[in-house]
This record gives sequence, structure tokens and C-alpha cells, in this order.
Amino acid sequence: MLKPCLKEAKVRTDKPITFKEYKIEQKYKNLGKNKKYFIKTYGCQMNEHDSENIKAILEQMNFSEIKEMEKADLILLNTCAIRENAHNKVFGMIGRIKHLKETKPNIVAGICGCMAQEEIVIDEILTKYNWLNLVFGTHNIDNLPTLLYNVYNGQKQIEVYSIEGDVIENIPAKRDSKYKAWVNIMYGCDKFCTYCIVPYTRGRQRSRKMEEIIKEINDLKEEGYKEITLLGQNVNAYGKDLKEDYDMSDLLEKAAKTNIPRVRFITSHPWDFTDKMIEIIKKYDNIMPYIHLPLQSGSNRILKLMGRRYTKESYLELFNKLKTIPNVSITTDIIVGFPGETEEDFNETLDVVNICKYDSAFTFIFSAREGTPAAKMKDDTPLEIKEQRLYKLNELVNKYAKENNDKYLNKEVLVLLEGKSNKENSLMGYTETMKLVNVKASDKYIGQIVKVKITDVKTWSLDGVICN
Ligand code: SAH
Ligand code: SF4
Ligand code: F3S
Repeated sequence: MLKPCLKEAKVRTDKPITFKEYKIEQKYKNLGKNKKYFIKTYGCQMNEHDSENIKAILEQMNFSEIKEMEKADLILLNTCAIRENAHNKVFGMIGRIKHLKETKPNIVAGICGCMAQEEIVIDEILTKYNWLNLVFGTHNIDNLPTLLYNVYNGQKQIEVYSIEGDVIENIPAKRDSKYKAWVNIMYGCDKFCTYCIVPYTRGRQRSRKMEEIIKEINDLKEEGYKEITLLGQNVNAYGKDLKEDYDMSDLLEKAAKTNIPRVRFITSHPWDFTDKMIEIIKKYDNIMPYIHLPLQSGSNRILKLMGRRYTKESYLELFNKLKTIPNVSITTDIIVGFPGETEEDFNETLDVVNICKYDSAFTFIFSAREGTPAAKMKDDTPLEIKEQRLYKLNELVNKYAKENNDKYLNKEVLVLLEGKSNKENSLMGYTETMKLVNVKASDKYIGQIVKVKITDVKTWSLDGVICN
């Protein structure tokens, strides 16, 4: 058994990163014969992509996927630790699995992902949910075949590393879409924002080598993919941990030059956004004019307590530069109720929202994460006040989302049609600026980028018809 350790997870050294190749041993390849797996994914795109990798590994082992948990032989929860409610959802689900296991004791059940990297979670699992067969973390997905082999040979497996992390290449992926693909460009995070658990659950920032990333994009293009999203917690800091003479702007340029129709990237930390990156985004039509630029707070006092390394003023300066990208849409993340946030601090956040008029924003109430510095800060704002702030903020965010969408009425935009929409006789897809559009169109257009005329506008989506 290898348990996670919070103290170790905080460590950052300048030891060189180890690059490894994923390989699966022959003896594991038939372990899943006649067995079905169910996997549920929580959290961010990083976890979604990890699940795509896990699925492909399981299918190499001859397991087949099933969408109903009740019929599965193997159940995995790929978990998220970012806020308390993410935790609660997972523990609720573990309760349901326990029920199932009472009637079908042969089910193998496991958890992985960011919660598995938390010392307190594993302690709780060992005392309350000791019947779980398998726990593995974010650093050893490649080891899943061995772990499962041991589980099926009667050994419970808990293996979570708190090491800084390696880079493992060549892990297969069973992608959810045939048209859009996630491409990891880096793992981990070294920013240690005081509220955030990610640097502990995902380890040190490790960039993949540029040639590996470009090879993956070229392969995806060959397979017919139309869009790739470069993924990382701080994509702008790409390459800083490598001893190479390239950075995010070089990677973006190389990605654009593959001529894949659409290149996106998330998430951008305002601290590392360079002018050169902005120039490259402007230069290439296939780099999408969409930027997610988390603000977190508009108060300099709170930003400092959060350890965000920028001020309201420097954020706005960057925001204005980004606005020079033609037709750009910008979205953000905001936390309300950070420890010690006053009404005045909160009003400063509203001020920034009033200036930036974001296309959309993800808004959250601060959630104390065990082991992070902010969890120890004095937090005396009642939850009721925090909820009122969130409500007020959301009203403002929605107002600007609608105003931004209104500008699209009667305009022609390019949409990558991904699949059927919930609306009858319609397909859904996204504009270059990441607006969701429901388009009246037949299925033959799925997978194509089409010109669409916008006929109706809502707060969170647009309606349209294909232009002839
Ligand atoms: N790497 C990204 C953020 C990843 S987490 C970045 O730095 O921008 C996604 C969002 O969750 C964050 O932007 C933040 O707004 C929110 N978040 C993170 N930790 C949180 C916490 N403890 N409580 C509430 N929201 C949190
Ligand atoms: Fe968390 Fe900050 Fe890293 Fe984003 S940059 S993942 S908010 S520590
Ligand atoms: Fe959650 Fe881990 Fe992503 S904590 S937001 S799944 S990096």
C-alpha cells in the first residue's frame, strides 16, 4: 500500500523530469475478457482526458465499456478535489456502489483522480470504505494494468504517489469525440494559489516536449480531427520547466502550422501571458479568438492573499491588449467569499466585471481545501452573505453574457457541428469564439465546419441556420 502524503506533495525540486514510455505487458491483455467497465468522471478537462486514457488502457486489456453502472463488472470513479461539493458527490456515489456490491460482491470498484491524491480522503476510505478494491492517483495511470491484475488475483491495491511526477508518453486514448481532441501540453502546477488543491494533487509543472505534442496534433489531423485544445493548468507557462529554447508562443505557432482547422488552449494564467503570444494568436486564423482568463478577484488585497501574482491594474492592462485580437471572446473564473473578503473587496470584483463585460464566467464560493494556506485563514463571512454575493455576481455575469450574445444576431459565423442537439431536427456546435449554437441541419453535416446565420439569441446559446 502506498498512501498519499500532503507534506511530500508540497515539495518542489529542480530535479530533471523523467520522460517515460507507456507499455502494456502481454499477460495483462486478456484480463478484461467478458468483463464490462463503467467510469464516471468529475472535474476539469484534465480529468476528462485522463478518463479517455484510462478507457483506452482498459480496452487494451479487453474490457468493454458500458454506460449503466448497475451492469458493470468494474466501476471506476475519476474524482475531483477542487471544492467541497465535488467531494460530496463522489462520497454519495461510493454509497451507491456499496449497495450494488452487497448484491454483486464480485464487482471491482475503485477511485482515482485528484481526490485519490488527498491524504485525508485516503484516511477516510481506509476507515469507512475499506471494501473498495482499488485506489490509484494521477501520477500512475500507466500502471493500471498491473494494479488490476493484482486486484483480480485477490489483492486490494492502494497506490498513490506524492512524487513530483514524470511525463509518460504514448498512453493510448479512447476519445469522446471524433472531431475535437484534448492534447495535454503540460501536467501539474507550481503556482500554489493559496486556495487551490491542484498543485498538491497534480504535482510539479512538467511540460511535454514540443515534438511529441506536434506529432500528436499531426496524427489527430490525419485521423480527421478538426479541433484540438492544448491543455494545462497554466498553458502560458509551457516550456518554462524544460531546458529548451521554446515557449508557449512557439508551441502555438507550430500547432497552427500543422494546419489543423482549429487550435484552442486552456487555461491561461494572467501572469505568464506574453505579447508574443498575442501576436501569434493574431497572425494565424486557425488559432481561435477565445481566451479563458481567470480573474478570481478584483481586489488587490484579496489577490495578494490568494497569491495570484497580479493586480487589478495589470490584469486590466493585459485584458485590453487581448481585446485587440479581432472578434475575441474572453471568459473568466471568479471566487467570492475568500477569507476576509469585505463588501468593499467584493464591489471591486463587480467593478472589474463591469469593465471587462465577460462573454461568460464560472463563479464559485470559496471552499476551504485541507492543506492549503487559505484553509487556515480566518473566514468570518457568513455563508448567507457569500451566497448573496454569488447571486449578485451571477446576475451581472448573465447580463453581459446576453449582451455579448445579442451582437451575434443576424451575423454569419463558422460552427464546428459536433452532434445532435437537444432541440428537434438540430445539431449543436461551437463558434470560433466558443459560443454554443443549435443549428437546424441534417445529420450529414456532423463533423463539418459550416457557415451559420444566427437567427435567435439567448443568454447561454445561439440558434442558427446553415447559410447557402
Ligand atoms: N489553473 C486554472 C484553474 C483551475 S481550477 C487557473 O489558474 O486559472 C478552476 C477554478 O476553480 C479556478 O479558476 C478557481 O476559480 C476555482 N477554484 C479553485 N480552487 C477553489 C476553491 N478552493 N474554492 C472555490 N473555487 C476554487
Ligand atoms: Fe490552482 Fe492557481 Fe495552479 Fe490554477 S494556477 S491550478 S488556481 S494553483
Ligand atoms: Fe478537479 Fe483535479 Fe481538475 S481537482 S479541477 S480534477 S485538476
